[in-house]
Amino acid sequence: MYQTVVRFTGEGVVGLGENYSLQMKGITKRFPGVLALNNVDFNLRKGEVHALIGENGAGKSTLIKILSGAHQMDRGEIIINNQKVSIQNPRHAQELGISVIYQEFNLIPYLSVYENIFLGREHMKHKYFIDNKEIKRKTKELLEELEIKIDLDCLVADLSVAQQQMIEVAKALSMNANIIVMDEPTSALGNREIEQLFKTIKKLKNRGISVIYISHRLEELWEIADRVTVLRDGHHVATSDLKAMTKDELIKLMVGRDLTEQFPKRDVALGAEILRVEGLSKRGVLDQISFNLRRGEVVGFAGLVGSGRTELMRCLFGAERFEQGKIYIEENEVEIKSPQDAIKQGIGFITEDRKRQGLMLIRPVKENMTITDLNQFIKRLFIDRRQEEATAESLVEKLRIKTPSLEQEVRYLSGGNQQKIVIAKWLLKNAKILIFDEPTRGIDVGAKKEVYNLINMLVKNGAGVIMVSSELPEIIGMSDRIYIMSHGRITGELTAQEASQEKILKYATKE
Ligand SMILES: Nc1ncnc2c1ncn2[C@@H]1O[C@H](COP(=O)(O)OP(=O)(O)OP(=O)(O)O)[C@@H](O)[C@H]1O
Ligand SMILES: [Mg+2]
Repeated sequence: MYQTVVRFTGEGVVGLGENYSLQMKGITKRFPGVLALNNVDFNLRKGEVHALIGENGAGKSTLIKILSGAHQMDRGEIIINNQKVSIQNPRHAQELGISVIYQEFNLIPYLSVYENIFLGREHMKHKYFIDNKEIKRKTKELLEELEIKIDLDCLVADLSVAQQQMIEVAKALSMNANIIVMDEPTSALGNREIEQLFKTIKKLKNRGISVIYISHRLEELWEIADRVTVLRDGHHVATSDLKAMTKDELIKLMVGRDLTEQFPKRDVALGAEILRVEGLSKRGVLDQISFNLRRGEVVGFAGLVGSGRTELMRCLFGAERFEQGKIYIEENEVEIKSPQDAIKQGIGFITEDRKRQGLMLIRPVKENMTITDLNQFIKRLFIDRRQEEATAESLVEKLRIKTPSLEQEVRYLSGGNQQKIVIAKWLLKNAKILIFDEPTRGIDVGAKKEVYNLINMLVKNGAGVIMVSSELPEIIGMSDRIYIMSHGRITGELTAQEASQEKILKYATKE
């Protein structure tokens, strides 16, 4: 009864009798002002890892939300295990064996690991109250099976992002999912955690579970995925075996054009020292950190998750206090006790966590970009709105922010587009020291290059840029110098010429 078409850019291949756990056909979904999905086909084989990729706003999350019952499609057909289904709501999707791990997790921070895993399962409720022990036993079994070493009674709030993700996987398994969707699972992970996640995914595969894997980190796809489907502007562009494709081909399908030189060249002479940090320490977190930054320079900070990079940047920005150490800006010692102090000194901070970035989710794009603090909000009454709009407009264009208009509320934008707005905000502030913490997390390849161009533009105009990143190619491709941190200390410093992934990892794992 079912017919399958495997497309590879125009070339039609028909495979019959294949073993699919899921087929989505002709899926169409319109939001006000946006055709998010236009007649999209997607299928999933049993036990395969199928990558779903595309630029920010291409429609990946929307497709997944239709599958998970969070959105209703306007048109289309969903077939699960050769049966046509009409997915009513998230609960129904769960019953059909579909589990989604979203970009933003759904765990309850102040409940324990095991409580989270069995939370909200109506059929377990009875058991839940009378038999905590049984639930704990089951959780333990699950975690052991996945080789996850986490204490059951631990609060989720105390877990790292990577650990939380593992709990999500365990939760999916506990619901007997046979289709697990991961929406950008590695965007918040370091190399070690990614390795662990990939191990977990391989275990899922061995159990015959199918995984839909969304990611903007293209390099990793060849390591983990069997096939790939590319969406562009709500259209299905291609489905293919990954092995049959190179990264460049994949990028071209994603962005619809060739994208040469992922790291644009920069020819900027270094100027005077603009920032110097001496002996900055915070008990148990940072130990005698000293480094400097010059005008026109991009300095990278590499290290594993938890090595102290973000804490250091938060200290520099006045978002966290430190006990010892001095900060000099243009040779003058300064005291930074709050973000306001930092902003006054010309420091800008683009943090890694977009939810806590101060994005006003229910306000329009335009406002989010142009208001960065209260002062400006007041000033806003007096400034030229038309000019402001023009600036916002040009940034939307430069960063390729996909939005129907400047008036669109930010919460309706895709994850990556929200991140671009955060960057746009600071670009408008004319800071002379800019700290980028994981600036391209969740951003598609094309937009990444735009961000790199913007960084180059900033240093060309005399700013100094600090870039924290877990993506080694990015750090190596963009930095003039790289500091490597481990356990709250700087364990190495490399120039762009000397740097390699191996060297960085060696310092990053130094005890
Ligand atoms: N609830 C909504 N209301 C209005 N528009 C929406 C809504 N959800 C998504 N959109 C729009 O639909 C399009 C597809 O968004 P989607 O979140 O599926 O993109 P994505 O491929 O997941 O992108 P990213 O890589 O940035 O996560 C975007 O233009 C987005 O702004
Ligand atoms: Mg998304």
